[in-house]
Amino acid sequence: MVDLVQQFLDFIDEYPKQSVRDLSRRVLQRCRILTGAEAGTIFVVRRQERNRWLEAVAVQNDAIKVAGESFRVPVDMTSIAGYVAITGQTVTIDDAYEIPRECCYRFNKDYDLASGYRTRSILCFALGGFRNSISGVVQLINRRPGPCQAVLPFLREHERMIAPVNHVVGRALERAWFMERISAKNRELRKSNLELRAEQAEVGRLQVETERAFMQSVELLARAAELHDSDTGNHILRVNDYSRFLAEMAGMPESFCEGIGSFAALHDVGKMSVDKAVLHKRGRLDAAELVEMQRHVTYGYDILSVSPRLAMAAEIARHHHEKWDGSGYPDGRRGRDIPIAARLVAIADVYDALRSDRPYKPGFSHERSVEIMTAGDERIDPHAHFDPELLRLFTRYHREFERIWDKLSDVPAINCVA
Ligand SMILES: [Fe+2]
Repeated sequence: MVDLVQQFLDFIDEYPKQSVRDLSRRVLQRCRILTGAEAGTIFVVRRQERNRWLEAVAVQNDAIKVAGESFRVPVDMTSIAGYVAITGQTVTIDDAYEIPRECCYRFNKDYDLASGYRTRSILCFALGGFRNSISGVVQLINRRPGPCQAVLPFLREHERMIAPVNHVVGRALERAWFMERISAKNRELRKSNLELRAEQAEVGRLQVETERAFMQSVELLARAAELHDSDTGNHILRVNDYSRFLAEMAGMPESFCEGIGSFAALHDVGKMSVDKAVLHKRGRLDAAELVEMQRHVTYGYDILSVSPRLAMAAEIARHHHEKWDGSGYPDGRRGRDIPIAARLVAIADVYDALRSDRPYKPGFSHERSVEIMTAGDERIDPHAHFDPELLRLFTRYHREFERIWDKLSDVPAINCVA
């Protein structure tokens, strides 16, 4: 008997990853050889919530062609397999058509009637699973010692032979079933992961598209403001590039440098709201007109501060005319109270204004502009106006400002600085 258990263990272990159906076919084949059964079925117990049923996973019959392996039997006391699945008792029947009336189960003749087969002797036993559960049922049919010999009843020795191996086989089937469910779950998870990755890629693509559209809107807004100011040319692009370059030299984070490289262009967007007569006046502004012109910083702030995404642009618009010594407008902020983005744009904006033609002056050379930025003139006091650290960086890297001017000075600018 120990040899028999070992035989089952050996062929179960031979293919450790075999499916429930493959393992069941091999088990059924082996049980039929041991008992001389002409036919047989292995059922496994399936559960869903409170429902239980027996699912045929291996069906064999040497006498007739088997139609298929997939059919179900309810787990109840009226069928032979159901009775065995509930009670765990082994049932031996000499003639399926002559089951004693006192038995609660009955043989279902439908299959015989449809196939022309005649079921006589039956040996039906349970397969024990983990935690003393019943994981399946083996039903062996028609013990026939030879192809042309009469069907004989199954014997006590067949029951005794099967008893020691039913737990080995039952647990192997249960383990195979668990493995199949885990594999199926893993496949589902892999599929979900792939779908999730595809969705993430799509979200990423849409974010890039949205960001691109947003930045195009920023540029168009800056262009619109500049056209309104009768200013043409690449002033806003140059201020973007000077500001970004200076921010990089100041060691600002990449995201900051990218932001200022786009939002610096919006520094004078508030000029769209300035009284047109004042904005386009060619001569010197009187005191009231100067106040109105200077309001472009708060107009710009009001336009841009409605969007958190434009927070940097809003603070540049409001504070790019503040001065290091507190003498600027609109808030008279001084030193590091002035946002760094506005301090950077202030240097970029003044350098570009010096290089550009104005109704009251011609555009200066790079050397003259650097001289005014660093030593001052009657309008600019660099030590009072600019962040001294940023001014040092400008002094050190002014050639890059010249390079940006040369690259983007194709269209002359007019009437810019307030
Ligand atoms: Fe301005």
